[in-house]
Amino acid sequence: MSKTRIGVLISGRGSNLQALIDACAQEDFPAQIGLVISNRPNAGGLKRAADAGLPHNTISHQDYPSRDAFEDALDQALKAAKVRYVVLAGFMRILTETFVDRWRDRIINIHPSLLPAFRGLDVHARVLESGVRFTGCTVHYVRPEMDDGPIIGQAVTAVQPEDDEETLAARVLELEHRLYPECLKRVIEGRARIVEGRVPLEDEAPSAEALTVPNAG
Ligand code: GRF
Repeated sequence: MSKTRIGVLISGRGSNLQALIDACAQEDFPAQIGLVISNRPNAGGLKRAADAGLPHNTISHQDYPSRDAFEDALDQALKAAKVRYVVLAGFMRILTETFVDRWRDRIINIHPSLLPAFRGLDVHARVLESGVRFTGCTVHYVRPEMDDGPIIGQAVTAVQPEDDEETLAARVLELEHRLYPECLKRVIEGRARIVEGRVPLEDEAPSAEALTVPNAG
């Protein structure tokens, strides 16, 4: 089977990158990682890429005079690696409209909330403070607005009375690691097409059902 090449952008520990590395190692998974880029030289995820024998690179935004110049460097590296999709995995830079348009419908992101609720940072603290009963994670196509874009998949967990930020983050992260490869697969296989600004629900893979059970797994 010929695999679709993806580029993964990270800024930190890279646990979602690891989930993707593990998924890509399976013969029947449709993606292969062509390049890992971190905008931070000390990101833990770079070691994961190195350990997996993957091409990896630091492109630090601090080395460029402008956001455009930084994004040009990202763009060139991704093109040189011949990737078809850009997968954001804890990448902490906002991408401009120019970059997003260049890779239109080929950039995906994971966010640790049930979007469109709780966009932005400090999600779990805000979730606890708000009193919502359920939280989770979302994989979506990227649009220029932060944490915006057609939803590809979500996974849910119930907030427990004893939860604090840490326990909640850990439980959501576990869901993230299952949801991201599943959604990437759907995108590559053409099962997450955008129609009138959203991904129609009927394209949902049956396994998504398992991911919407609180505390699945
Ligand atoms: C994850 O919670 C992801 O949803 C968010 O940033 C975090 C990255 O964690 N966008 P990791 O670097 O993948 O471990």
